[in-house]
Amino acid sequence: MRHVIAIVSAAAVMMGVLAPTGAFASDAFYPKGDGNKANGEKIFKEGKGDVPACMTCHGEDGSGNDDMGTPRIAGQFFTFLLKQLEDFASDKRTDTTMFVMNANAKGLSPQDRRDVATYLAARKIDFKGSDLKALEANGQAVGLEFKGRALVEFGSPQRNDGFPNSLGSKGPGAPACKSCHGYAGGGAPPVYPMIGKQRYVYLVNQLKKWREGSRANDPLGQMQAVARKLSDEDIHNAAAYLTGANELTMGNSRTPYDHRFDEHKK
Ligand code: HEC
Ligand code: HEC
Repeated sequence: MRHVIAIVSAAAVMMGVLAPTGAFASDAFYPKGDGNKANGEKIFKEGKGDVPACMTCHGEDGSGNDDMGTPRIAGQFFTFLLKQLEDFASDKRTDTTMFVMNANAKGLSPQDRRDVATYLAARKIDFKGSDLKALEANGQAVGLEFKGRALVEFGSPQRNDGFPNSLGSKGPGAPACKSCHGYAGGGAPPVYPMIGKQRYVYLVNQLKKWREGSRANDPLGQMQAVARKLSDEDIHNAAAYLTGANELTMGNSRTPYDHRFDEHKK
């Protein structure tokens, strides 16, 4: 066992040191989907059988819709999209927003689900985030971006409730979202979804669902444990930052990692 761990970690160290960052975007690390994109596109635009066209709710560009509470699905990682469709199909996840996704996923064959996930993952869009001013004018509670950014990058060390913090110690408060979801919520495939440049309303809804346990399809209960550390204010702040989170740092024209946001589709 020791031996195996040693080999695996040595390999990981070597990759980190020797391989260009592009290696992490390779199919070995991150499957981009092997489905039939043309069939996926047809399902997205026209639907199939009783399943309506995905774009009627998720938008023509797949960037979601705040009024309906639907997520951006274009440009999300293949493995994550497929997992969600499988979880809806098997009722591991319940759509309690519009009560449609379980029926939609069940109405597609496993191959159709793979095809539509492949199509969506490969679809590049230039989505800049939800219009927070418009949402606020509509009476939505909108948080503060700078506080959300601090939470995403550093967690909330002031709350003394024993969850391991981003430094890996048994410290207080919520962990940094970045420790799992990457810089600016860009995601870390195959497990951790892109949460940056996602719809505000959807982010808020999901965080509340994780917190109350009405969404519980997360591996090891990771997201539920995190969300239970968040106040409503934390949730609004994190979502306000994440929806428009810039994947670039100041003065840096390149993304920190090759697979961030749409970079991985190059
Ligand atoms: C009638 C509206 C509607 C239609 C049509 C629809 N969706 Fe959805 N979809 C939703 C809603 C609402 C949610 C959010 C569910 C929740 O809040 O848990 C969602 C969530 C999802 C998610 C989860 C995304 C994530 O980030 O976790 C995926 C994937 C998805 N839909 C794919 C599809 C596909 C593929 C189709 C077409 C076959 C489709 N949807 C058609 C309303 C719709
Ligand atoms: C310990 C790792 C971990 C940390 C830290 C973490 N998450 Fe997550 N998160 C996950 C996992 C795993 C999933 C995917 C669950 C699944 O497969 O459905 C997820 C999913 C999500 C989703 C749903 C995305 C979607 O498209 O459906 C949101 C929103 C989210 N996380 C927000 C956050 C925020 C905000 C923070 C920081 C306050 C955070 N997460 C910290 C592990 C983590």
